Amino acid sequence: MEKIKNIAVLTSGGDSPGMNAAVRAVVRTGIFNGLKVYGVRHGYHGLINDHIVEMKSHHVSNIIQRGGTILKTARSAEFKTDEGRKAAWENMQKHEINSLVVIGGDGSFRGAMEFSKQYPVSCIGLPGTIDNDIWGTDETIGYDTALNTVIDAIDKIRDTASSHNRMFVVEVMGRDAGFIAMHCGIAGGAEAVLVPEIEDDHLRLFDLLEDGTARKKSSNIILVAEGDQVGGAYEFVKKYADRLKGYDVRVTVLGHIQRGGSPSAFDRYMASLMGVKAVEAAVAGKSNIMIGWGNGNVIEVPLDQAVKIHKKLDGELLRILNVLNV
Ligand code: F6P
Repeated sequence: MEKIKNIAVLTSGGDSPGMNAAVRAVVRTGIFNGLKVYGVRHGYHGLINDHIVEMKSHHVSNIIQRGGTILKTARSAEFKTDEGRKAAWENMQKHEINSLVVIGGDGSFRGAMEFSKQYPVSCIGLPGTIDNDIWGTDETIGYDTALNTVIDAIDKIRDTASSHNRMFVVEVMGRDAGFIAMHCGIAGGAEAVLVPEIEDDHLRLFDLLEDGTARKKSSNIILVAEGDQVGGAYEFVKKYADRLKGYDVRVTVLGHIQRGGSPSAFDRYMASLMGVKAVEAAVAGKSNIMIGWGNGNVIEVPLDQAVKIHKKLDGELLRILNVLNV
């Protein structure tokens, strides 16, 4: 890899709280290292359409506490094509950029890897998604904030659930992953959790709920990941209408509120460290790595592994949740 000329940063895929802290860290570390730093708006779409602007230190003032991404984000189908990547590379050459920090999920990393195979560009990934479904990092940027948002919602739902002796079936995000559902199920004291990774055993689930009723449990919270095999909270209630007859059931879909809000202290801290290390890695001539989080610090992970290996949800967590519901 030739020496870094200028460096660019973009956010791609679903936004997540803490992305701004990462952008700020990348911009300031680049400047600290004497580089010109560019921000790309709307993810890869902006790279293809030359929405590339130089970023000075003051452009990232007062953003560490803001949710979303000041660079805006998008999912780009065009970047999956040779023509799209060629246009992106031409724009980068115009600005003499040969290093790119991509903040996003595995789809965004796949695009970065393809790009660096075809063109002499150093790509460093930062894991940004509320789903926490990226291998090689204990946490992704935005996950901690999303957990706190969901817990806040569950606490509120619990108040009304227990006042009315109701069952609430609460749907949380996680198209392919149950990390949010499982962690919040344990942290929020849910009676049951349904996740895509573990085949649902509904008969056992209803037995457990009935046991709870026998123990004078008057309200229930069931957390369902949107990507669960049953097809989400409404589908669950529809499919098991007969078994649920004895309960006064309500459904709440938390939706995109889980993606917004001011990032937690942890997300800001982790994103800041990751942003610094991303630029330092690029300056050191590294490419095709993700800066992840392991054992309370930043780690370097080969990007191809982060993309290829499936991050597993620990099945033991379901047993723990059941123990806590005895
Ligand atoms: O990837 C993060 C995520 O929040 C998923 O959990 C969810 O399914 C998806 O994004 C929804 O994304 P959008 O509404 O932006 O298409």
